Amino acid sequence: MCDNICVCGTSSTLNKQSICNHLKNDIEVFCFDSIDSTNSYAKRVHSQCDTPTLFAANHQSSGRGRLGRSFYSPADTGLYMSLLLDVADNNDDIICMTTATSVCVVSALKELYDVAPQIKWVNDIYLNNKKLCGILCEAITDEKNQKIEKIIIGIGINLSTQSFPDDIKHTATSLNKTHSKEQLCAKIADNIIEMSRHLHTRDFIDEYKKHSLVLGCEISYTQNGVTKEATAIDIDRNGGLVIQTQDGTKTLHSGEITVRLKK
Ligand code: BTN
Repeated sequence: MCDNICVCGTSSTLNKQSICNHLKNDIEVFCFDSIDSTNSYAKRVHSQCDTPTLFAANHQSSGRGRLGRSFYSPADTGLYMSLLLDVADNNDDIICMTTATSVCVVSALKELYDVAPQIKWVNDIYLNNKKLCGILCEAITDEKNQKIEKIIIGIGINLSTQSFPDDIKHTATSLNKTHSKEQLCAKIADNIIEMSRHLHTRDFIDEYKKHSLVLGCEISYTQNGVTKEATAIDIDRNGGLVIQTQDGTKTLHSGEITVRLKK
């Protein structure tokens, strides 16, 4: 059992009971008024936790993003959550967990807020061409057999944040909604649990493509320190970005791209 501080109640903090009431699946829930990072916490306590377990916070003092970046996580205006899942039985499919999670988040946002989010490869959720949500998936590997045994799926969504730090103030946005934070948290967790049972079908790839911000666009990407231009033409079954370059077709499996032109 995790050593946690469960905050139930006030209007500005996350209400654990409300998350539990909205959940359809059997998920253990821990809520924090403030924590360093829900991903870091899940990493620290995973061995004492049952799965699936959800860690959700009203504020993160050291929210983490991809590529060693920080994730701005102010109090009261965002949703910061991590889902700890056992993946020992579907190791081959974990490669596309981030891609699948993007679809789960988009579908929850559309259902609850009537918005039209898009996915910027590989896993950023955008609204009106600005970043609304980031996803950070981290694997926990069994030291003995070097197999991935658990995965931590971290999601941060700007719900009503109005001012952002200088480095992201022109590229970040908020939903500008404050209602249903707990319902959103539960819906995303349920979507991921249900999706994780069918990862092998890759059914989510079509939804991912439908919401892609980059397909059909001119992009630039960097490989081995060299930045090149290409056209994004497809998403493969593992979530890789298929691009048309001057030298032919290539698939990008990780990294970051810049979208050069609008569709
Ligand atoms: C990114 O944009 O690069 C990914 C951001 C992921 C942020 C979420 S917030 C909940 C979880 N805890 C963290 O420290 N990071 C993830």
